[in-house]
Amino acid sequence: MTNIPQVVIQGENEIALDQVAAPQAGPDDVIIKVEQCGICGSDPGYIAMGGLLGPGVPMRIGHELSGTVIEAGDRTGSGSGNKSVGGLPELGTRFVVQDERQINSGETMNNSTNYDYSGAKVLVTGGTSGIGYGIATAFTSAGAQVTVTGTRASPADYDDVELSAFTYKTLKVQDTAAIKALAAELDGLDILVNNAGASMPGGDEWTHEGFEESIRVNLLPAFHMSQACFELLKASEMSGGANIIGIASLTSFFANELVPGYGAAKAGLVQMAKSLGLTWAQHGIRANNIAAGMTDTRMTGFMKDIPEFNDPIIDRTPLKRWGSPQDMAGAVLFLCSEQASFITGQTLTLDGGYTLGI
Ligand SMILES: NC(=O)c1ccc[n+]([C@@H]2O[C@H](COP(=O)([O-])OP(=O)(O)OC[C@H]3O[C@@H](n4cnc5c(N)ncnc54)[C@H](OP(=O)(O)O)[C@@H]3O)[C@@H](O)[C@H]2O)c1
Repeated sequence: MTNIPQVVIQGENEIALDQVAAPQAGPDDVIIKVEQCGICGSDPGYIAMGGLLGPGVPMRIGHELSGTVIEAGDRTGSGSGNKSVGGLPELGTRFVVQDERQINSGETMNNSTNYDYSGAKVLVTGGTSGIGYGIATAFTSAGAQVTVTGTRASPADYDDVELSAFTYKTLKVQDTAAIKALAAELDGLDILVNNAGASMPGGDEWTHEGFEESIRVNLLPAFHMSQACFELLKASEMSGGANIIGIASLTSFFANELVPGYGAAKAGLVQMAKSLGLTWAQHGIRANNIAAGMTDTRMTGFMKDIPEFNDPIIDRTPLKRWGSPQDMAGAVLFLCSEQASFITGQTLTLDGGYTLGI
């Protein structure tokens, strides 16, 4: 038996039972779904309390986790009623768990990082959803002034995300004139995150029009936005240099038969970061990408519920989970930081190890 972590009830439930898959574990286990690590924001999956560890990554030592109890009892539980086992909270209860070794010994191994981006001006294209929203939120939490773009007319048109912490601008990234106009409106910029993108934005990418539209959405705006913001970034006095971040993909390296245009665009971002990094280093601007593996967002999250898609992904991923927007944001905040001031032109793959083996 492993140590039993302390459970502290926090408040009301937030996740409905039918939104999560039933975990598997031994008959004596009590399963909780960990929604998010309270410190690093990662999603460690399921942990089992009072018994064997369940599938997914266990609680990280020294981290405080928050989550929701979705099943308590035996392996047939699968959301079967609100029963409370061994004094644990009822299903759906919010909780915070701390590792017992941290609580009992007073020894902590705090390897988390808090960045300070106070005063930094950040622009995140496509900051209204998924990875962009995660990056924008992380920069705001670190003290930055963040502008996000989305395709809709106003922030009030987004009812699933809270955008009040940001300055909002409407932008369709295929519109190069609008990109230039947006850059001209900014009163300074230290970090540009070229995040907006979509697969098959023009439908079938094997048609001439579909392929071209994907390049227009996923590659060209990264150049136009970077070029339009060049003078602003050059004027930045942020320590470690100004930064351009692109969101590449596993399709930067692997072909996917459905999205030849998207893949070509994402591969193009890898090369573009090298060109920008090489040429603009003299102006104090670094350029890097993250290559996001399967990340749970509006674009791809639906695949998690389809075993034909999800199972092969998890099978191949050594860390046995999808990425979260917070995983991506953590790497972006590092790449833009002073600690990364010697890194430019690189593409950092964040995929739980998906690309490690064949
Ligand atoms: N999710 C993954 O597994 C994954 C993996 C590798 C790379 N990526 C890349 O990560 C980036 C973000 O994707 P995501 O997964 O976070 O998707 P998402 O949740 O669908 O968010 C996409 C964002 O881009 C904006 N956007 C889409 N098309 C646009 C257009 N034509 N003009 C302007 N803005 C547009 C959206 O604005 P609205 O909200 O207004 O529609 C939204 O803010 C993309 O570049 C994507 O290719 C994602």
